[in-house]
Amino acid sequence: MGLQDLLKEIQILAVVCNQYGDTGKGKFSDFFASQWADIIARGTGGNNAGHTVIIGDKQRVFHLIPAGITYDKEGKTNILGNGMVIDPFVLIKEMNTLYEEGVSFNHLLISDRANVVMFYHVEQDKAENASQKGGGIGSTGRGIGPAYTDKVARRGIMMRDLLHMDILVEKIEKLKKYYPQQQINIDKIIADISPVADRLKPFITDTVDFLHDSIKNGKRICLEGAQGLYLSLEHGIYRYVTSSDCSTNGTASGVGISAKAIDLTLGVVKFPFMTKVGGGPFVTELGGIRSENYCSQEFGNRKDDEKNIYGGRLNEMMNSSDDFEKGIALRMIAGEYGATTARPRRIGWTDAVAAKYAVRVNGPMKLILTKADALENNDFNICYNYIMSDGSSTQKFVNDSEVLRKVIPEYKIYKGYSDIRGETQFEKLPSSLTQSIIDFEKFVGAEVSIVSTGPEMIQTALR
Ligand code: IMP
Repeated sequence: MGLQDLLKEIQILAVVCNQYGDTGKGKFSDFFASQWADIIARGTGGNNAGHTVIIGDKQRVFHLIPAGITYDKEGKTNILGNGMVIDPFVLIKEMNTLYEEGVSFNHLLISDRANVVMFYHVEQDKAENASQKGGGIGSTGRGIGPAYTDKVARRGIMMRDLLHMDILVEKIEKLKKYYPQQQINIDKIIADISPVADRLKPFITDTVDFLHDSIKNGKRICLEGAQGLYLSLEHGIYRYVTSSDCSTNGTASGVGISAKAIDLTLGVVKFPFMTKVGGGPFVTELGGIRSENYCSQEFGNRKDDEKNIYGGRLNEMMNSSDDFEKGIALRMIAGEYGATTARPRRIGWTDAVAAKYAVRVNGPMKLILTKADALENNDFNICYNYIMSDGSSTQKFVNDSEVLRKVIPEYKIYKGYSDIRGETQFEKLPSSLTQSIIDFEKFVGAEVSIVSTGPEMIQTALR
């Protein structure tokens, strides 16, 4: 099947993640922006996200702006929706970097109602949530939680307030008392933020109105999800979640449309292994709590450290009976280090029980599988059953972090397969991989439409 078949009669498409984020949505946002969409809109989160896109020999990491901005010159509109929280300084920095690389911003739109991440949010977040030690969330430390907290408490600063310094002063004056630990100097804030506000002014508008007019005019829309379902405030594994609802529903709401208006949702799943950053349960994690603690340590460039320490032993480690060693080897083989924080990502086999839950909440949907090309002939496992602490077993996801921590995963084991990097034909994928895909889609209740076979756009097998 070609892209035309997949997107036949589709006007609104959503690309969301069915796991813990970092599943490669950026590649597909780029894929659909270049080949299909007129408008690419993001509805949730802020610069806690990091979408990596590889274009030719260039790697770009987007934190706030949808990856579709690369096609601004072609007249494609990119929207930062009302459900987002935006750090204006980070946004300007991201725009400057892209501008230097020749990217234009003729069609960028920022919701006037998106909330603003202020410096005191960042400070608060770092002080309260950034550490993963002692059961902490291990937030990205970008001020996301505190900014959403202010929004929910109805004292948030909106992008539109940046256009009226008198309103901004009044609002900060009122919320100062909620940040007693911090030195909030309003004159300094205004002096710092004024030039940034001037620069962003032309982009700030009612994006909901724009989006609905565009839908009426037949424009094709791609909604770009952020994070992943298990991190959703509403549906994720609370309290190890981010502060927005990054489900399909939340993504739609975050740009001002009903999820019912979405014609096709594509759920991205890392397969046959998956990753997580930050604290919280991860049933299939290789190395369990030992790995969680190891990945939470805050020091230098772990990518280089791991290379130096384990470099020559990868194959031996992949066959090790110690899952912790296997996890390090798999992380190195797959290059799984955070795009935003450079943290080593926690790693384990794909959990079909949890994926089934994600399909239920985020669906109906079709699936995109990513990262299957990363394995190097290694046997792999997919989890289809949970053994509970009382010895009983279930194939149903239990959304309770304390229960999940004690679950033992039961796996179906598959033979390793040869190199699939760059394969564009689904039928040519090795039989052990296709068998595992058929088992998976039957179990989770969603068809696999796309298998990513490498980081570049052309390395994509459409079914
Ligand atoms: P926050 O969104 O920075 O508040 O972090 C809350 C939790 O979500 C932490 O466990 C983060 O590691 C995780 N998280 C936030 N954004 C991402 C993302 O883009 N990818 C993966 N994990 C994320």
